[in-house]
Amino acid sequence: MALKQIDHGSKAYQQMVKLRLEVLRKPLGLSFTKEELDAEKNDILIAAFDEEEILGCCILTRLDERRIRLRQMAVQKNLQGKGIGESMMSFAENIARDKGYKILTMHARDTAIGFYEKFGYTVKGEQFEEVKTKHHVMEKILM
Ligand SMILES: CC(C)(COP(=O)(O)OP(=O)(O)OC[C@H]1O[C@@H](n2cnc3c(N)ncnc32)[C@H](O)[C@@H]1OP(=O)(O)O)[C@@H](O)C(=O)NCCC(=O)NCCS
Repeated sequence: MALKQIDHGSKAYQQMVKLRLEVLRKPLGLSFTKEELDAEKNDILIAAFDEEEILGCCILTRLDERRIRLRQMAVQKNLQGKGIGESMMSFAENIARDKGYKILTMHARDTAIGFYEKFGYTVKGEQFEEVKTKHHVMEKILM
């Protein structure tokens, strides 16, 4: 498996969007708007590949000089539970650290809270609804 940063608009990016649709949006009856995807031009786009096949992905979005937000964490359904998510977390954290960010934060789906807790993230504040799904803010100070 190769973890890499990919370019907005590239073939790898098209594969990433397809994966996110399948894993994160279609199960909720949702899609992406052009505006949402265009706004990702300045994001850090991360994907795990096996040769030409995309296995998983996530995105980092700058909030301010100290904080960066993890979004769109998804692993292909038939490959979940094999450590791909864990590898992507550690890759994303290293990039965030290298770029000087101090806090990694996210809107975690409640069904994934246990996953993020494994890497030291803690829940902040009250539950809220986003994309028809219950979420909590989670964050961690990057050491
Ligand atoms: C959540 C997700 C990204 C995790 O990736 P993954 O590759 O399946 O996870 P890993 O195999 O790396 O798991 C690492 C550890 O977290 C645990 N874990 C994985 N998913 C979990 C979950 N939803 N809840 C609690 N623990 C979880 C694993 O059991 C494993 O624990 P272990 O080290 O004790 O064995 C993936 O399952 C996924 O895409 N789910 C659907 C989309 C989603 O919910 N994305 C997150 C939106 S906030």
